[in-house]
Formats: sequence, C-alpha cells, structure tokens
Amino acid sequence: MKHEAASPPLVSLESVGHVYSLGTPSEVRALTGVSFEVEKGEVLGIVGKNGAGKTTLARIIAGLENPTEGKVVFPGPKGPRVGMVFQQPENQFFASTGLGELAYGLKVSSAEIPEHALDLAGSLGFSAEELATSPFDLPPGKKRLLALLCFFVLKWDLLIVDEPLTGLGPKEAEGAAHALFSAKGEAGTLVVITHDLTHLFAHLNRLVLLEEGRVTWTGVPAQLLDPEATAPRDLVELPDRERLTRLMRELLPEISLDAQDNEEFARRILGLLATK
Ligand SMILES: Nc1ncnc2c1ncn2[C@@H]1O[C@H](COP(=O)(O)OP(=O)(O)OP(=O)(O)O)[C@@H](O)[C@H]1O
Ligand SMILES: [Mg+2]
Repeated sequence: MKHEAASPPLVSLESVGHVYSLGTPSEVRALTGVSFEVEKGEVLGIVGKNGAGKTTLARIIAGLENPTEGKVVFPGPKGPRVGMVFQQPENQFFASTGLGELAYGLKVSSAEIPEHALDLAGSLGFSAEELATSPFDLPPGKKRLLALLCFFVLKWDLLIVDEPLTGLGPKEAEGAAHALFSAKGEAGTLVVITHDLTHLFAHLNRLVLLEEGRVTWTGVPAQLLDPEATAPRDLVELPDRERLTRLMRELLPEISLDAQDNEEFARRILGLLATK
C-alpha cells in the first residue's frame, strides 16, 4: 500500500519502554526501546507470542498507560481520536437489545441511531430482528461482531483492536476478520494485535513483531512466506496452505495454483507481487 510521503505519521513511538511496578521488588519489564510509526490509513498488525508486550504497547498508544521510558508522539496538528477494543469486548454488554448497545456508545436513544450505523450493521449481516433481541442471546460470532460494531460506528482516527478473533470458531473468525477489514474505512487507521495471523494475513498492510518486549522485525505479511527472507515465520501462527491459496487468489487472481510445494507457491506469490 502506498502512502503520501509528505504527510506525517499519525503516531510515532520513540524508544518506548515500560516496567510494571517500577521501583518495587515485583518489577516486570514489558517493553524495551520500541520505536516505530503508524501511518495514516494503514492496517498495522502488532504480532508476537503470549507475554511479548502487545497489550501493554496497545494501552500505551491508546494513552491508557504512560510509558516509563520514551514517548508517544502524535505529529498532526490536533491529537487523533484513539479508541481501543479490549479482548472479548462482548463481556461488556449490558443493554437489553443490540440497538441499545449501539445507542449507548453513540450517546443517542435506540430510536435515534444514525443511518450510517444502521447501514454498517446491515453490511455486517445484522438483521433488524437480531438488533432488537438481547445481545446475550446472539451466537458467539455475532456477539463479537456486535461488540466490534459498537466501536466501528464511532468516529476514530485510530482504532486499536486487541486479539479480535480470540475464542471464535474458524467460520466466526472469518466473518469477524472480514468485518474488521470492511469497517476500516470508518476508523481510518487500524492497529490489530494478534498472535495468530490465520484469518488476518490478507488484511494487514504491515507487521511489527514483538519478542520479549522488543521489536525484532517489521515487514509485510508476504515476507513471512518467502523461503529466502529472514522473516521469523515460527513466531506467528500462519494460515494453512489451503486457506492461503484462497486468500492469495483474492489478492492475486492471476496466480496459478499448481505449485508442487509451499516453497514454489511462495516464490510465485513473490514473483507476482514484484510485478505490482
Ligand atoms: N498489570 C501488570 N502488572 C505486572 N505485569 C504485567 C501487567 N500486565 C502485563 N504484565 C507483564 O508484562 C509482560 C507483557 O504482557 P502483555 O500483556 O503486554 O503481553 P501480550 O503480548 O499482550 O500477551 P498475551 O498474548 O498473553 O495477551 C508480561 O510479562 C506480563 O506478565
Ligand atoms: Mg495481550
């Protein structure tokens, strides 16, 4: 994805470090020297294993936590509106209907939900009946989608979503991933935190890998498939071959699918990407 070279990044992290319970015997270092930028309009994945520091970093970017070292800079003329969706956001449901959940975030009554929000709900597959029923009665995938929708309908410059697909089955996860991506236009810029790229691979423009609180690699997802690149394949869950083939067909319709093995397949992907 190309970005306007002239426009400043939305967010710039400068040597951000974080120690929990600093100065006490129970100190835990979560982040060390993290520097990168989030460009306006991108879908950035922050990936890494459990405990790598992803959620800590997200909370710091969202301004929910002050880093103990370094700083987060918003170079634009005015501070962006940054939202953060926590893991399992459906745990926060409290209203008696889906419409009630939407209305709460929008600070309107259920009868006054604006057209754009209802349209987005419809485009994510919500029927009027579903929105009129209790959110607690929805199936798990729909619950997650509704919870995400409640954030999507608000106007953010940057929306950070922490492990949006955790706990969903493959079909539900596919639906939620699609929703995330289609709602990106609303949010402008999206940061998605995950340890598992199975359903997100095709949607992310760029990845930042955290290992034990440090950025050890940044790149584009396709590099994870390049047998010759030094990309850290084993540090994130990748989609299996069949899924990847389908995703690649969407992205690169001209790709031929008769590769003998993953390596040849990866070479073809890279060959085609190089011509773009
Ligand atoms: N509130 C806290 N107090 C003390 N230590 C914490 C706190 N939150 C996180 N940590 C520690 O900081 C480190 C990074 O945790 P963090 O939750 O940011 O990682 P993560 O990549 O989001 O992990 P996961 O994949 O499990 O969600 C870990 O060692 C964790 O135990
Ligand atoms: Mg986390």
